[in-house]
Amino acid sequence: MPDLKGLILSGGKGTRLRPITHTSAKQLVPVANKPVLFYGIEAMAAAGIREVGIVIAPETGGEIRAAAGDGERFGVSITYIEQDAPLGLAHAVLTAEPFLGDSPFVMYLGDNLLRDGITDLVEAFRAESPEALILLTPVPDPHNYGVAELDGDNRVARLVEKPPEPRTNLALVGVYMFSAKIFDAARAIEPSGRGELEITDAIQHLVNARMRVDPHVVQGWWKDTGQVEDMLEANRLILDDLIGKTEGELVDARIEGRVSVEAGARLERATVRGPAIVGAGSVVRDAYVGPYTAIGEGVRIERCEIEHSIVLADSTVEGLQGRIEASLIGRNVRIGRSPALPHAYRLVVGDNAEIAIL
Ligand code: G1P
Repeated sequence: MPDLKGLILSGGKGTRLRPITHTSAKQLVPVANKPVLFYGIEAMAAAGIREVGIVIAPETGGEIRAAAGDGERFGVSITYIEQDAPLGLAHAVLTAEPFLGDSPFVMYLGDNLLRDGITDLVEAFRAESPEALILLTPVPDPHNYGVAELDGDNRVARLVEKPPEPRTNLALVGVYMFSAKIFDAARAIEPSGRGELEITDAIQHLVNARMRVDPHVVQGWWKDTGQVEDMLEANRLILDDLIGKTEGELVDARIEGRVSVEAGARLERATVRGPAIVGAGSVVRDAYVGPYTAIGEGVRIERCEIEHSIVLADSTVEGLQGRIEASLIGRNVRIGRSPALPHAYRLVVGDNAEIAIL
């Protein structure tokens, strides 16, 4: 059997993460200061996969290429594959066919995060060689996902994409393993109601043809980081495993619990309560940073309090009275008190932003 390849889907518009995704690909939004996409690439490398294809969209492809490069620093070789239009996950698979050839492959949605990686699953797939291996996990809102029904022998009986009335709570996780049989299945199906070639339908096609599709229920946590709440939750889950370190400078500062203060960061008369991370070159002064906060690089947090939030690079938050929480703050944002009269809120806010004031 040819060796397993990796396929990461990193197109899509990220409409549910606007306005952040007006200027940046959703797969590059950082979780615990690392782009979501990198977790997927690292999971592939850890599973022994060396050749990784990344499917990109024309609008955000340049940025993804610039971030992930040739893959050398992850220990993989990356090939970029442009998908002209977002016509569905099965369409992305067909677009990648020249790269994948007849190799079996792992497909990983670039905005998904799996706590326990994919190493064990890749081993099971290699050992058993089914035509497909799908990952499932119970969720409270199955109508937002592909949903699986298993039969009495724990075999996949039926898969439905985002059913209004789900028959089970088992969602399809965005990580799949396939043999080259998936290409014919993807060619055989018709676009769904949302006009996309659904991978769920292609897998159902394999099931109908009595090909072997193995289900695997995920034990550790899984997150699809498509929405702000999911991003914050993923940030919390990753920070839960953070190992604290202090490479930056502390001046009259207090650190409680596991905090990573990266090189060139400076905490001055500040309290940082972990798990939290303060990125390289950032300054936290006369401020409180609470648990589950990821402060990116080159950020300034001054005379304010913030927790359970993500602040992206080069932003400033200063002089606020209430505490900021459960917030996602983009790049190069300024939040502060206005010195000028009249005392009023002055806002320059992107489309689809959300602001809640005390
Ligand atoms: C896609 C799949 C769906 C799966 C989900 C996992 O949904 O179509 O079956 O459950 O990813 O993240 P989409 O992200 O296109 O809404």
